[in-house]
Amino acid sequence: MKAISNSEIVGVIGAGAMGAGIAQVAASAGHEVLIYDMSLEAASKAIKNINSRVERLCEKGIVSKDVANNTKRCLKVANTFEDMNEAHLIVEAIVENLEVKQQLFAQLEEIVHDFTILTSNTSSLSITAIGSILKSPDRFAGFHFFNPAPRMPLVEIVSGLATSKDVATSLYKTAEAWGKKPVYAKSTPGFIVNRVARPYYAEALRVFEEGVADHATIDCIVKECADFKMGPFELMDLIGHDVNYAVTKSVFEAYFHDPRYRPSLVQQELVAAGWFGQKSSKGFYTYSPKKIDEPIEDYRTCDKPNSINIEGDLGFAETLVSLWQTKDIHVDRGDGNGIIRVNDTVIAPTNGLSASERMHAEAYDILVLFDYCADFQTTPRIVLTAAGKNKDQNLDIAAGLFQALDKKISIVGDTPGMVVFRTIAMLANEACEALLLGVANSIDLDKAMKLGVNYPKGPLAWADEIGAEVLHAGLANIFESYKDIRYRPSTLFSNRVFENTPLFEK
Ligand code: NAI
Repeated sequence: MKAISNSEIVGVIGAGAMGAGIAQVAASAGHEVLIYDMSLEAASKAIKNINSRVERLCEKGIVSKDVANNTKRCLKVANTFEDMNEAHLIVEAIVENLEVKQQLFAQLEEIVHDFTILTSNTSSLSITAIGSILKSPDRFAGFHFFNPAPRMPLVEIVSGLATSKDVATSLYKTAEAWGKKPVYAKSTPGFIVNRVARPYYAEALRVFEEGVADHATIDCIVKECADFKMGPFELMDLIGHDVNYAVTKSVFEAYFHDPRYRPSLVQQELVAAGWFGQKSSKGFYTYSPKKIDEPIEDYRTCDKPNSINIEGDLGFAETLVSLWQTKDIHVDRGDGNGIIRVNDTVIAPTNGLSASERMHAEAYDILVLFDYCADFQTTPRIVLTAAGKNKDQNLDIAAGLFQALDKKISIVGDTPGMVVFRTIAMLANEACEALLLGVANSIDLDKAMKLGVNYPKGPLAWADEIGAEVLHAGLANIFESYKDIRYRPSTLFSNRVFENTPLFEK
């Protein structure tokens, strides 16, 4: 099956934010695009907006004058619904309501050619359910663009139970011809991105609720220690809490209240207050109109130790050893549980247990834990938590050890898996579960998360890099601590670790 030729007409139904964006993409690729909206005014306004966007791109030299003129020439308002009968491909982007979408597709099927491919840009409804209304559901698929469609490269090609392979292939190739990076997904709640990304918000909201750290500190930690472009709180403020909460709730309902997708009371309160984020000038942050930055508290400057003892392997933090040596800290090594001793202070990378639980389990008097960092050499920040007697004194010693490497220090409350480690463990777990259930293959899963939500690495390849067994054991520890099945490791995650095979298959 080939891409739909750009000599064929594309129909877009719904001229809101998404419809207009998709129309722009199709017209830029050379298709004549007919835009239909139940409000003629909305369709005309969409074309006006696209034209001015394209002109701006031309002024900035991002698109040539020819492409800009051609794009503008290709866009037309469909005055009647029946005008859609000329299209070879129809993309629906109307209100997110199953009955309304079904009714629209039933009417469409009456007027279009037999070969016309019908698609929906829905982000939360079942493609199987929308298509069930059709006489030929095999020609129907999800064609899920991300907002803003002209800029976001990812398109999820979503197959319902009845979608034909040829139709999915043709949409995949069409998306590529439009300059997009498509992935295949099975019609399941949230498809790939809106499902696998849930823990990014959920774990941040949970540690915030527990008072482990404030929202600005969590955002800062996640960005500085793990290279995420936006912290979870600023991202939720940008998406809008009304939208983000609605997606979480719909995924939670769709998975029959699986606690893994449990919505957060904090976010429910924000929605109740009308604090939707950037669009209402208030969310976790205040906007006036730009985000008002909130200062992060850095820990006081402490003394550098002259020597340390490392007992066992430090796992994901092993690179720290040579960094300390370059700062003239003498390192003695021996066997043990993967800990660092500075006099009586015991310091260790998190293994998923809270500091107090691990201190108890391994019979230390005190324990300072530090969080995972994607690159200990370049990270500007290290996150610490402590349990046991003389906490402040022991935190001073651990802080001094990392400040010797020119790192800033954030202290957070004691919680299983800290902030970054638990987030990445849960993202990897969700990706494993999606892989297990055949939502997508590992290449498309990782690609979707990098392109759809800008993650610095795909969660599966990232887990392999950290050591899938380390993350898996960490997750099992978090699960044991909370006794909450939300943290249960996916059986695919467990099996791959026990079989010693990678999560990401090239
Ligand atoms: P929107 O509210 O901006 O626009 C919807 C448009 O559809 C309006 O112009 C409305 O007049 C028109 N419309 C509503 N019912 C209609 C009908 N029966 N026939 C013809 N026109 C009708 O909505 P938005 O944000 O563009 O979303 C559209 C679809 O795209 C939804 O299914 C949504 O879930 C999905 N989506 C939205 C994303 C977002 O970030 N906004 C991202 C990805 C998908």
